[in-house]
Amino acid sequence: MSTQADALAERLFGAAIGTFDLAGVYLGDRLGWYRNLATDGPATPDELAVRTGTDARYAREWLEQQAVTGILEVDEAGRFTLPDAHAEVLADPTGLSFMAPLSRMVAAAVGQLPAVVDAYRSGGGVGWESYGADMREGQASFNRPALTHLLGAEWLPAIDDVDARLKADPPARVADVACGEGWSTLAIARAYPKARVVGFDLDEPSIEAARRHAADEGMADAVEFRGGDAARLEGPFDVAIIVEAVHDMANPVPVLRAIRESLVDGGSLIVVDERVAERFTAPGDELERFMYGWSITTCLPDGRSRAPSVATGTVMRPDTLRAYAGEAGFGSVEILPVENDFFRFYRLQG
Ligand SMILES: C[S@@+](CC[C@H](N)C(=O)[O-])C[C@H]1O[C@@H](n2cnc3c(N)ncnc32)[C@H](O)[C@@H]1O
Repeated sequence: MSTQADALAERLFGAAIGTFDLAGVYLGDRLGWYRNLATDGPATPDELAVRTGTDARYAREWLEQQAVTGILEVDEAGRFTLPDAHAEVLADPTGLSFMAPLSRMVAAAVGQLPAVVDAYRSGGGVGWESYGADMREGQASFNRPALTHLLGAEWLPAIDDVDARLKADPPARVADVACGEGWSTLAIARAYPKARVVGFDLDEPSIEAARRHAADEGMADAVEFRGGDAARLEGPFDVAIIVEAVHDMANPVPVLRAIRESLVDGGSLIVVDERVAERFTAPGDELERFMYGWSITTCLPDGRSRAPSVATGTVMRPDTLRAYAGEAGFGSVEILPVENDFFRFYRLQG
């Protein structure tokens, strides 16, 4: 084998091991094993199985795999421990290091590959709903910590006039468009108690989950959630926001236009979307590879599942958004100086 072939073969072998790491994380998350090890402490396979109502033989295999791959530690007596630092990543759904939901999203994406293959042949699509609860809940849970801790505490406060309007009287009317399970809606309402925040999403199970989360957080009266296509949204609103969703919309221009028409004079639409490179370059960095991974498996097939579709894909470059905004009638698109590794922040106005 040439050195180049060797390098690729090794890289794919490593990727297979990484895939199995995610599969192990999926099992540990879904079976409550990480949470149990984090709250009830170290366990033998039998103890973990009894404590979680699961099968001891499978528990042993998983615990051994987790120790072999370096996620759990094992002592001489055969008791397995989840180190605190790993518990942050795997068992704390509100912590900023929480990564377990990524395993659910990847599992959902991979699970739809046969349908994606068909779509690639026919030019059709695979709708968000087809990716099921693992994608919907995984997406919501993956974004939840950042939305909960940063959206209202750092991101919106960094946009001075929007921050001021959200705090002012008369109470600001806020549209959280394509809110998914509503963590952003709840975060805005928590940070700006005067504002009246409405979350919109096309996906009914997401809206139902958002209402449940609001009730669980004691915020059912503080927010409102509405199902349906945001292209039919009606205002007036002082501020609108779309988090990680413009690139998923089959046809974003009518949604952007409806938002523009619903905004009061001087109102802003904040778009939070992927911090991809300004233009296509290959090879790309890790973020670009990550985003293309979502695009080939999920966002592009999802975006093409409804007609008409502009077929954006995850890798929405700033110029693409500028073009959509212009078509929707917005006079300006500004890239905001908000720091984040994954997201770029835009303000659409006029
Ligand atoms: C990747 S998810 C992001 C959800 C949420 N903002 C978050 O950050 O977790 C994209 C969402 O866009 C919603 N969506 C796509 N097109 C829409 C439309 N035309 N109107 C309303 N929601 C839409 C989908 O239903 C899905 O919940």
